Amino acid sequence: MSTHNQELEALLVAESITITDNRSGESMEIPIVNGGVSAEEWAKLLPGIWFFDPAFMSTAACESAITYLDGDAGILRYRGYPIEELAERSTYLEVAYLLLNGELPNEAQFSEWKHDVTYHTFIHENVRKRFLEGFHYDAHPMGMLVSAVAALSTFYLDAKDIFDPESRNKQIIRLIAKMPTLAAAAHRFSVGMPFVYPDNTLDFAPNFLSMLWKVAEPHYEADPVLARALDILFILHADHEQNCSTTAMRVVGSSHSDPYSATAAAAAALYGPRHGGANEAVIRMLTEIGSVENVPDFIATVKAGTSGQRLQGFGHRVYKSYDPRAKIIKRTADEVFAVTGKNPLLDIALKLEEIALNDEYFTSRKLYPNVDFYSGLIYQAMGFPLEMFPVLFAIPRTAGWLAHWQEMLDQESKIARPRQLYIGPEPRAYTPIDAR
Ligand code: ACO
Repeated sequence: MSTHNQELEALLVAESITITDNRSGESMEIPIVNGGVSAEEWAKLLPGIWFFDPAFMSTAACESAITYLDGDAGILRYRGYPIEELAERSTYLEVAYLLLNGELPNEAQFSEWKHDVTYHTFIHENVRKRFLEGFHYDAHPMGMLVSAVAALSTFYLDAKDIFDPESRNKQIIRLIAKMPTLAAAAHRFSVGMPFVYPDNTLDFAPNFLSMLWKVAEPHYEADPVLARALDILFILHADHEQNCSTTAMRVVGSSHSDPYSATAAAAAALYGPRHGGANEAVIRMLTEIGSVENVPDFIATVKAGTSGQRLQGFGHRVYKSYDPRAKIIKRTADEVFAVTGKNPLLDIALKLEEIALNDEYFTSRKLYPNVDFYSGLIYQAMGFPLEMFPVLFAIPRTAGWLAHWQEMLDQESKIARPRQLYIGPEPRAYTPIDAR
């Protein structure tokens, strides 16, 4: 055997695990590929012995080429491009194209993409008049968005042709284009303002701001600093690999349901306070703290653990260092406050961060600010009510959801179907009601 082959073999053996079934004494070696071991291989030796992994803490449910995340090193990349560079130099529409197509567009591709997205921003009048205006006056805008996205599937029957490339592409464009229109409509309804039609002379973020804030002027021009800040926030929220809502998208999509139904399911997952609601919790926490002087007492309460209170916007399941998106958002916040005036809660947030980053309780648990610590402050300064925060998250995340949906359909055709460990009663005979 050549030295090269011996080296290769040694490397292969090192990159593997050996499992032994102690009941039979049988062993099996499974290679470690891309940081994981195949459960299919495992099942060859141990059929019927399942991995018990609630919340998928140690399970990779797919292979993906979209987003790379290293939580210990604080690295986030879309298709290989560092998030810092994309936030600095790109736009949300370009990033959406990148996530969906794997490469940044050239000029001709971008021009066609932008044209298509811009000209699909209108929603069917029945979606507005019958669905959105049919909600109760105090409906939550996120509930309205989830329902309206699901309703879209009834307007585009060709959406069921998920393996027809032309139809698939059309639904992707429609969804990315219509999300801001639906989101703005939900907001206008919740504050009792008339619906504003898209202005297709505007770019993606300014058009959204026009649909939100336009009153009687014939043409609404958003402040360019605020429009750019929103676009940066959209870039930062566009994807985050296998989070709860993306997993929902993949699971529902694996049954081959249409992309509107799958996106509605993903948005429903994002609606939950553990996922899309953390920045709202940050604002509520900062408001409750009330002033910078109260920060040390609040930190002491969190550390004591008696109130069940957590430092909202701190800590992350995956990031065990500073969330790279939080660093970018902090810079963006300064630019926004230069236009809107400082959010009065900012000083409390900065004091909290300063104390926590120098406190052993937080550093030893690797608790650092996450993306939500500052994003709510920006949204609030821009004039968004708290209820709109998850809606603002759903708009850009649609690109990530669709990129994963498409990747999943092109990769494998199995329906998602985990196993369970049954812990219920043994078989027993039915007892008639009068004998119970
Ligand atoms: N404040 C105080 N202590 C905390 C916090 C926090 N924000 N987060 C975790 N801890 C402590 C826990 O009490 C625990 O301490 P212990 O070991 O003494 O029991 C330890 O750190 C580990 O906590 P877990 O809950 O096991 O960590 P997990 O990875 O499951 O939780 C989560 C991650 C849910 C994000 C958590 O850090 C948290 O609740 N943060 C506040 C809410 C928040 O900001 N969520 C946004 C996440 S980003 C997003 O979804 C877009």
